[in-house]
Amino acid sequence: MTGSFQAAANPSIVQTQTGRVPGRAHVLVIGNEKGGSGKSTTALHVAVALMVEGGRVATLDLDARQGTLSRYLENRAAYAQRKGASLPMPRHASVPLSTLNDRQSAETDERARLEAALEPAVSGADFVIVDTPGSDTHLSRLAHTWADTLLTPLNDSFIDLDLLARIDPDTLRIVRPSIYAEAVWKQRQLRAMQGGRPVDWIVMRNRLSSLAARNKRDMAAVIEVLAKRIGFRVAAGLSERVIYKELFLSGLTLLDLRRGSGGPSLTLSHVAARQEVRDLVAALNLPRAAAPAPPAAPATEPATPVPPAEE
Ligand SMILES: Nc1ncnc2c1ncn2[C@@H]1O[C@H](COP(=O)(O)OP(=O)(O)OP(=O)(O)O)[C@@H](O)[C@H]1O
Ligand SMILES: [Mg+2]
Repeated sequence: MTGSFQAAANPSIVQTQTGRVPGRAHVLVIGNEKGGSGKSTTALHVAVALMVEGGRVATLDLDARQGTLSRYLENRAAYAQRKGASLPMPRHASVPLSTLNDRQSAETDERARLEAALEPAVSGADFVIVDTPGSDTHLSRLAHTWADTLLTPLNDSFIDLDLLARIDPDTLRIVRPSIYAEAVWKQRQLRAMQGGRPVDWIVMRNRLSSLAARNKRDMAAVIEVLAKRIGFRVAAGLSERVIYKELFLSGLTLLDLRRGSGGPSLTLSHVAARQEVRDLVAALNLPRAAAPAPPAAPATEPATPVPPAEE
């Protein structure tokens, strides 16, 4: 940790929401260098939620090697075709890492390819959602500088919180912010220097246990302190539910599930989960779509992709 890191209040809440730059999409980057925190799952759920509200959405997969978001969307397109279902689809692109050997050439190549993918997305949609890998890559760092909103899903565990800050195990006091927090801080500074709008950084807790466990309480308390110290907002996030794993193969999200004959067995648990996704999108406080289209027609009742989850 360098001595340059200082606590920064999140300047976002007012500025980010004043509206969009005309003709430009609002860029939502989903970032957390830790693997498996729910970035890709969250990316598709937020994308579908925004499309259901009539927003034009573009998605970008910067984790092309793993390609979870791209595969999720392939599964979605295949499901729609197989079942004759009408499912909203984002305009999607994937940006692979450069294969050039020399580091500088590789970075220049990646910057050019990221810009080539982002520019048309930003000028042709209301929202661009960028899914990043669970590791520190040059491409991911570049993408963070494009973020109007940065959303960091965090598994509800002190192992994952370690990404944001070193915590004293006895007192639960914050010893110091850690590498990712400092990196985000630097990216925010860089963006400010380039004259960009402030970044709204939101941390969401993922895979929340339904039990009122001590871990859950302690995490909530520490995150609240940390939010003030390193400057982010906290969104309530999503509970731990088997349905998130089950939906991947069909490419569906909780927003696509509907009640009705022939449809999936929408359990009370799924209704509650869907509400959590809607609450999350509301908490993001994104600017409205530029030219609100009429609400998308309800998707044709898709058949149950999997047996209803037992939770
Ligand atoms: N709220 C949740 N409840 C249960 N399982 C979840 C939840 N959110 C995500 N998962 C599961 O956790 C795993 C990791 O999720 P996901 O692939 O979205 O994370 P990621 O951050 O994109 O991972 P990576 O860093 O590897 O790209 C997946 O199996 C996903 O289905
Ligand atoms: Mg992922």
